[in-house]
Amino acid sequence: MGNKHYIVLMPSLVKQFFVQRPSVLSSDSFLHWIHDKYFGDGGASKRIPEHNFHKVHSTFNPLMREPFLSTATARMRSLVEEQVIGLIHLPSDTGKRGLWERFANFALVGEKSAEADLFPLVMSFVASIAGVPIMGLAYVENNHRVVEDLWAFDNAFGALLAGLPGLTPKLVKARAARTRLLAATKEWNEAVAAVLEGKDPGPKWKDLSDVPEMMRLRVKTLRDTNSEEIFASVSNLAVYWALMVNSNKVTFWMLLHIVSDSELLENIKKEITPYARRGAANKQSRLALDVDGLVQNCPLLKATFFEILRLYTAGTSYKRVQQGMILTESPEDAESLGKPKPQTYHVKAGTFLVIPHATMQMDPRLWSNPDIFNPSRFLVPDNENGMKMRADPRHLNAFGGGQSMCKGRLFAEREVLIFISGILTAWEFKPAGGKTKIEIPKTYYNSTGSASPKSVIRVQVSRRAS
Ligand code: HEM
Repeated sequence: MGNKHYIVLMPSLVKQFFVQRPSVLSSDSFLHWIHDKYFGDGGASKRIPEHNFHKVHSTFNPLMREPFLSTATARMRSLVEEQVIGLIHLPSDTGKRGLWERFANFALVGEKSAEADLFPLVMSFVASIAGVPIMGLAYVENNHRVVEDLWAFDNAFGALLAGLPGLTPKLVKARAARTRLLAATKEWNEAVAAVLEGKDPGPKWKDLSDVPEMMRLRVKTLRDTNSEEIFASVSNLAVYWALMVNSNKVTFWMLLHIVSDSELLENIKKEITPYARRGAANKQSRLALDVDGLVQNCPLLKATFFEILRLYTAGTSYKRVQQGMILTESPEDAESLGKPKPQTYHVKAGTFLVIPHATMQMDPRLWSNPDIFNPSRFLVPDNENGMKMRADPRHLNAFGGGQSMCKGRLFAEREVLIFISGILTAWEFKPAGGKTKIEIPKTYYNSTGSASPKSVIRVQVSRRAS
């Protein structure tokens, strides 16, 4: 991209990278690039004064704080408790089929089970719920194609980011989806702004009362800074996109690994049982999930989440060097590469530093047998009670690090644990088509952040009996 890039792969240098101030290492150039090439803002983010750009960017911070965390988690929990029973509709069920069943090539197998493609099933089921706590129900309900469009748009992430012209059918589709997503978000921005100004947003947007304070603040800040309309649309579409592109895939991979390993499945079911209960009277009634219990008292569940992040996410931390700096590797890093002494790097202003986290997550200096799925690598004795174990993320930086570290990370962890516990409590999965095992497929990366499966994983789904 016309500039010198240094790829940082030394664990000790990664640590030094993360502690730098934004005046030394800045994300701005990369964010402008994404806004322009991927989201198509035509350079608007670059045009707005730097202090206003940072003011808008800082409105991500409430994602990490109360009241957002509790309110959004409670909404997510409640929706999963109520809707997970409709993941699959069996002949005895009432209610409308979900869009996710159509995407998953749903087919009944007798009265008590159905077959479905697990990846689209989980991706779209999670998406249909996860948008609500952040954007509010009206955004999702008024835009029936929003999930489908997001996948089409994100599938061309690499090509759009590289600035390729829209010649292939995939790129043409991605650009058309992006146009619709931006239009939907612009309309939503205007409706939320109208509510903030005490005006009537019109019948289509009559209830925006569930839009969280954090998103209202973004709309207000975009107005207060007189931001161009396209920048406002891109900024809030970016939140919806960040919400969707990693957690859904992580949920899929985590569910797949758990249901394909009977021992892990039994151990996790046992661990979550006190915190994930089914309605006693009626098997089809809503669940009751205790999120604090799942997050704090289920080390194996959490360790499995960390192991899935390690194996299937591929985030990048990408910064421009604003002030020349010196980085020195540790003696251990030097030794691992057979160097007689640690090497020092003089990094010039104007160059870029990049950490490809997927590479770090597979580094044998950090992880023994990195190719093997092994959640227990994250289990360590609890400091307060040595008889118990706790999950420790150790050297995992799947959410990046430093100032630009993922602001949705606390929410994402809760989200994935809620979905996994809800699905495992309500449903059972077996291999479909007479197979004896649910296989773990190979992966590919053509969209943002996390891996997609290379082949279709067809499963048989039935309601859990006990
Ligand atoms: C498992 C799920 C997720 C993963 C693996 C993930 C990963 C990442 C990574 C690698 C970054 C860049 C960090 C860096 O520059 O060093 C990032 C940024 C970000 N993520 Fe996530 N993310 C996840 C879920 C979410 C969710 C649910 C949200 C909610 C909206 C979210 C919101 C954000 C935001 C706002 C940023 C930009 C932070 C900033 O520039 O200050 N993420 N994420």
